[in-house]
Amino acid sequence: MHTRSVLACVGGLIMIVLEGAGNTASKKATQPPIPRAGPLAQPGSLQQVGVPTDQTRAVIPPDNPQTPEKIALGQKLFFDGRLSADGTVACASCHNPERAFTDGKPTSVGIHGGVGQRNAPTILNALYNKTQFWDGRAKTLEEQAALPIVNAIEMGQPNLNAAVARIAGVAEYQQAFSRVFGRPVSGPDLLRAIASYERSLISFNSPFDRFIAGNENAIGDAAKRGWELFNTRARCNKCHALTEDKRDVTNFKDDDFHNIGIGIIKHNVAALARKAEQLVNSGDAAAVDRAALQTNMSALGRFLITHKAPDIASFKTPNLRNVLVTGPYFHDGSQVTLWDVMDHYNKGDGVQDPWLDEDMQPLALTERDIDDVVAFLASLTSDEYKKQGVKELARQRALSRTQRPQRDTARAFGPKPVQPKPPGP
Ligand code: HEC
Ligand code: HEC
Repeated sequence: MHTRSVLACVGGLIMIVLEGAGNTASKKATQPPIPRAGPLAQPGSLQQVGVPTDQTRAVIPPDNPQTPEKIALGQKLFFDGRLSADGTVACASCHNPERAFTDGKPTSVGIHGGVGQRNAPTILNALYNKTQFWDGRAKTLEEQAALPIVNAIEMGQPNLNAAVARIAGVAEYQQAFSRVFGRPVSGPDLLRAIASYERSLISFNSPFDRFIAGNENAIGDAAKRGWELFNTRARCNKCHALTEDKRDVTNFKDDDFHNIGIGIIKHNVAALARKAEQLVNSGDAAAVDRAALQTNMSALGRFLITHKAPDIASFKTPNLRNVLVTGPYFHDGSQVTLWDVMDHYNKGDGVQDPWLDEDMQPLALTERDIDDVVAFLASLTSDEYKKQGVKELARQRALSRTQRPQRDTARAFGPKPVQPKPPGP
């Protein structure tokens, strides 16, 4: 319930200040400058080692074919603050190419400094996602792009038309839309252009890809052992692979949702689930988006969309490419290093979580095993992020030497705990 109270025009820049119950208009905007579309923001080549060519073609929807002009228009929009209510926030503010299209924060900060409940995933290789968002609440990139624009703590527009009107007022955009789509600026075309740019962000060409292509020396022995562990004792392939019986070297995801015990202890999810019922039944996409990003119902994950008890606190299995440079980790950004992530899996975090995925269990991995899996994960860093990767690995390693808050060796080497039963209705 926002009322638009001040409409100021400063040097041709319209600034809309929002006031009303529950928003943060009184706080000073703390947005850093919007990143520029430098070399790391350019479309990825299909010639990269490791690109799954057929899959890449198959994910282009027939009603939104890729053209260089459309991709360029989408790129311009992705970096344009004018899509937000006060001009300060672009898609790139939270999906910064210098940080592999993430923001490096535990949870994202949007317009007027509003802090959300979720960690910003990378846009690199998002074209391969069967669904978008941690809970899969958007089916396509087109559908996804509309939601941050109108979310009150992300880009803060009252509706998509407000953003369209802003863009339609710019001569350069009028010409570009007319060239690309043969018609005036519209909401659906704006979303098509952004999605088309996102579908150009393919990122492979990692040491691991060269190893799979036959260069035995592309990765070290630790990473090789880590890849073995990933598919065997460490059980990562139970979820980070399209099938469990065939090694999957493309995107390390299963297009599914699992409760792996993240944030579950912090929240009383059973009580939250009861509260969410009404919301889920309403089928209102903007309301669900609000709940996921602005309330503690965020912890319910996929349940907010399906309203099925087994989906309580389950989240989408993320692609692991470039994971070294897309931290902090998990849907709530709660883990700082890949060692912390490994410690979480090693103890099979399950206490107090009746909905924990059955594939979570203590792994009995040694310190060397853990280092090896981290070395494998680091080998998934595409060449364009090599420099950031080297620096980040050193930073995380140094941190892991002094603090391992998730490590619990007794549990990692102990029996699988008996899981509590889900609470009754
Ligand atoms: C204020 C920060 C912020 C802004 C601005 C923002 N995003 Fe995001 N983005 C996020 C967060 C946080 C998530 C995860 C939210 C969730 O899963 O509930 C996300 C998720 C996504 C995803 C899903 C990726 C996946 O792996 O599921 C895509 C695609 C995406 N954003 C694209 C965009 C586009 C396009 C824009 C501009 C129109 C945009 N974002 C603006 C923070 C932001
Ligand atoms: C039961 C399924 C399952 C298993 C087994 C599993 N994962 Fe995951 N993984 C997920 C899901 C689901 C998420 C997101 C969970 C969340 O954020 O709440 C995730 C998140 C991650 C992340 C964080 C990525 C990011 O962008 O934040 C990393 C890294 C990761 N997994 C690596 C591994 C490794 C390594 C193993 C094996 C030791 C493993 N996973 C085993 C399902 C699984």
